[in-house]
Amino acid sequence: ATRKIAVLVGSLRKESFTRKVAKALVLLAPSTLELEIIEIGQLEMYNQDDDPSPPPTYVEFREKISQFDGILFCTPEYNRSVPAVLKNAVDVGSRPPGKSVWSGKPGGIVSVSPGALGGFGANHHLRQSLMAVNVPTMQQPEAYVGNAGKLFEGAELIDEATTVHLQKYIDAFATWVERHAD
Ligand code: FNR
Repeated sequence: ATRKIAVLVGSLRKESFTRKVAKALVLLAPSTLELEIIEIGQLEMYNQDDDPSPPPTYVEFREKISQFDGILFCTPEYNRSVPAVLKNAVDVGSRPPGKSVWSGKPGGIVSVSPGALGGFGANHHLRQSLMAVNVPTMQQPEAYVGNAGKLFEGAELIDEATTVHLQKYIDAFATWVERHAD
């Protein structure tokens, strides 16, 4: 069966390297996975007071995510952690209690940075939150995409080593999703 994977991108920047990596993964994904980027920039900052009558953007986001079999988180690193926009999406999807859209859905994390460390801090902070929302997150292979400013020509991924690694990553993720499906 084809498994539907929601791809969340933790940057709203037009020329985002993280989004370029996400788009490369969409192209590299095996035919058993169907990847779709789901936007998160429209989600208001979460306010618990709104739980009784959530903003329409929340309702739509939660319904959409519910239809997917797994989640691939592509994140930049802001101040050694997860950008607020992505953490906000995790929080929005986790509420109200008992109705989290994340619980049990297999996940993967790809962190991206123009720096050498590949967003290690963001990658692992996000793991901490995904543990809290019961997303079984693939441990290996890891994906810390560093030097992101040198990997693309326009939108196209031109770095061979990164391409090979992302291919291995997404193939392993397909197996991970299958193992945790249903
Ligand atoms: C950054 N950047 C950054 N990079 C990094 O490797 N570690 C970090 O801790 C930070 N901190 C940080 C904080 C803030 C507020 C900004 C705006 C940026 C740089 C960051 O990696 C760079 O802007 C990337 O280009 C962001 O990812 P996208 O937008 O290209 O996907």
